[in-house]
Amino acid sequence: MAHSTDKPGQWPRARSARYWESLAASVGTPFYAYDRRVLAQQARVLREAFFGTELRYAMKANANPALLRAVADEKIGIDAVSAWEARLAHANGHRRSRILYTGNFPSDDELRAIASRGIVANLDALSAIDRYGKIAKGSKIAIRVDLERGAGHHPHVVTAGVDSKFGLAREDLPAALEIVRKRGLRLVGLHQHIGSGLCTDAHREVWLEAADALFDLAISTEKSHGILDFIDVGGGFGVAYPDDAHDPDLAQWGRSLSEAFVRRWPSKDRRPRLLIEPGRSLVAACGALITRVTTIKPARDRVWVGVDAGMHTLVRPAMYGSYHPIWPVRERKSKPTECWIVGPICESGDVLAERRGMPLPREGDLLVIGMVGAYGYAMASTYNLRPKPAELLIDGDRWEQVTRASRYAEVCG
Ligand code: LLP
Repeated sequence: MAHSTDKPGQWPRARSARYWESLAASVGTPFYAYDRRVLAQQARVLREAFFGTELRYAMKANANPALLRAVADEKIGIDAVSAWEARLAHANGHRRSRILYTGNFPSDDELRAIASRGIVANLDALSAIDRYGKIAKGSKIAIRVDLERGAGHHPHVVTAGVDSKFGLAREDLPAALEIVRKRGLRLVGLHQHIGSGLCTDAHREVWLEAADALFDLAISTEKSHGILDFIDVGGGFGVAYPDDAHDPDLAQWGRSLSEAFVRRWPSKDRRPRLLIEPGRSLVAACGALITRVTTIKPARDRVWVGVDAGMHTLVRPAMYGSYHPIWPVRERKSKPTECWIVGPICESGDVLAERRGMPLPREGDLLVIGMVGAYGYAMASTYNLRPKPAELLIDGDRWEQVTRASRYAEVCG
């Protein structure tokens, strides 16, 4: 049955049951599928909303090499958080000058790997800046600050404020600038990222206040360091996971950001570049997880619908209580039932959805879990010695398997 695809994350519903059955027959379940065109559409939404701003994709959301190449085709750079992320991005079409490494409690080995690749390091601890200065004298550096404004969809993803391990405290900035000077580093940017999954008006207010505070800080460093190359206000833009909810109005976020920026730097010729680092908002909607019902188990007050995906395939529901839309590929004419959709992992927390009303599926049916392009496969594990799933890239009528499911020897050594 074809459904409206007004919301980008609805795209799997426009594909027929036959289509999903044939892919499942080719690659086995569970598998992730990414729609290249939905990714391009989301890139356009972000580019238009944040016109005049440079985009750096926070690749922790999904580091699939085929997606990284698609992101490079969209002329979007990279925010990397490990040396391997930076290396993979470079190997998949991203120029070093468009990769920013944002380190948190980095080892010397990691700092050396970043320095040897000539990638700008963005650091947030006095010790890390000092050690980087010894390793990479004369290099460019950015500093991530914590201006004590944080927000997020869950406490685990708030990345600023007293309880957060991220960012250099404002009062430590003079000491950091002294280390920069002493070690012959060159300060090129200031950065912050306050949290993830920002959806509400209240979130937007905090995000804008934080950006404003960062702009003020950048103006005050101009006195000693001149105009910086860039200011990076991070990512965090949320998406509405339920299929009947609206995404935040990013155009409004973009307008307010740009107004605040232009107020500080009215002249186009004398201003830093303005960067944002979206992860989720770029890739969440393009991803779907296809899973097969293995076992239906009616219980006293509920029906357990067991599937072959679980917290090892998609950890967000178990980890943050996150909601993802779930649709049966083939709608049965059975009566709507409250289903508890669960995986095969030996933990009671292995629940993908609670009380999800849907016509009761049968064993062997396929279900689609939507909006999983961000922090889905990226956080998958081989817990309980279960393989990581395959990943497919779909582009119109064509599809290809871009990652195969892990094999026994890879998981069990
Ligand atoms: N920049 C930095 C420095 C970050 O740490 C992050 C995300 C981003 C950008 C991108 O944030 P986004 O636009 O995706 O919100 N696993 C969690 C999300 C963790 C986000 C960590 N940092 C989840 O599934 O909700």
